[in-house]
Amino acid sequence: MTQKIAVLPGDGIGPEIVAEAIKILAYLNTDMDLGLEFEQGLIGGAAYDATGTPFPEATVALVKNADAILLGAVGGYQWESLDIAVRPEKGLLGLRSELQLFSNLRPAILYPQLVQASTLKPEVVSGLDIMIVRELTGGIYFGQPRGIKTLENGERQGYNTLVYSETEIRRIGHSAFKIAQKRGKRLCSVDKANVLECTELWREVMSDVHKQYPDVALTHMYVDNASMQLVREPKQFDVMVTTNMFGDILSDTAAMLTGSIGMLPSASLDAHGKGMYEPIHGSAPDIAGKGVANPLATILSAAMMLRYTFDQAEAADRIELAVNDALNSDIRTADIYTEGMHKVSTSEMADAVIKALKVRG
Ligand code: IPM
Ligand code: MG
Repeated sequence: MTQKIAVLPGDGIGPEIVAEAIKILAYLNTDMDLGLEFEQGLIGGAAYDATGTPFPEATVALVKNADAILLGAVGGYQWESLDIAVRPEKGLLGLRSELQLFSNLRPAILYPQLVQASTLKPEVVSGLDIMIVRELTGGIYFGQPRGIKTLENGERQGYNTLVYSETEIRRIGHSAFKIAQKRGKRLCSVDKANVLECTELWREVMSDVHKQYPDVALTHMYVDNASMQLVREPKQFDVMVTTNMFGDILSDTAAMLTGSIGMLPSASLDAHGKGMYEPIHGSAPDIAGKGVANPLATILSAAMMLRYTFDQAEAADRIELAVNDALNSDIRTADIYTEGMHKVSTSEMADAVIKALKVRG
């Protein structure tokens, strides 16, 4: 059976890191006869420059027909002054929304080899393994009304709307509880129920969904406390579930606990397991084109694709073990470099992963 992968490299370091992840997938495709087919498309600033829109019709058709999507990153300085409706980020948000990829999984795992690369003390982060489940197609990112208007007195006013329906909260709740069941069976729901009615409802609905998952322990935490606890004692968490914006913020914090945001993959799934896979770091325009970006987050995103959409756990395990092997040697990209290690380029890091795949066989 063929499996169609839409490949959207995007902007900044996107093309470099996606090219390396494709090398890994292509190797396994041949080695394990996975039946993967790749087709490239435009998204973000690259799409805007070529077509005048960050999510062109051709890309909409491509992603709708694909079984999974591998995305690099979007955005860059040169597009920052564009109207918000055509900014690169709108391409990514459009894709998430168009395909209803509401369940965003952002695992934060600390590889023991990188314990020195974290800014936190080794005893605080070693053994860290958290899963953040972020609602991705609702909340303040998409709520209406939104905009910037000029009041009668001539002053401008910016406004956005935080809105969640019970259905939206329920479906992300089910995703999170199911994931918690397969892990440590502890779920922490993060909200700001003491101030925001919308998340008061979030808390109430999460507690109701909990009734169907009695084997999972549910706790609730306010987002300000959660951000503090993530740097104070991160290992208290197993799975966290939260709104679109809180998840955006907390997942960057969680990423940094692991030493580098350059290590963290993500999956964004619809109700049927179709997914988009992307590293959680951005387009890093400051280092784009230099061949120094860390490709591991994208390579690990490809592993998540094999696991979650294609049900190829063995292939996914092989990639994850090979990444671990590569880190067991002294090679490091700049973002995870520590004294005494050997600094390598984007492609050298990916080549080390391929070499490890071959050695393990
Ligand atoms: C992320 C990013 C995006 C977001 C941006 C690029 C729109 O920060 O995936 O975390 O805010 O969701
Ligand atoms: Mg973010």
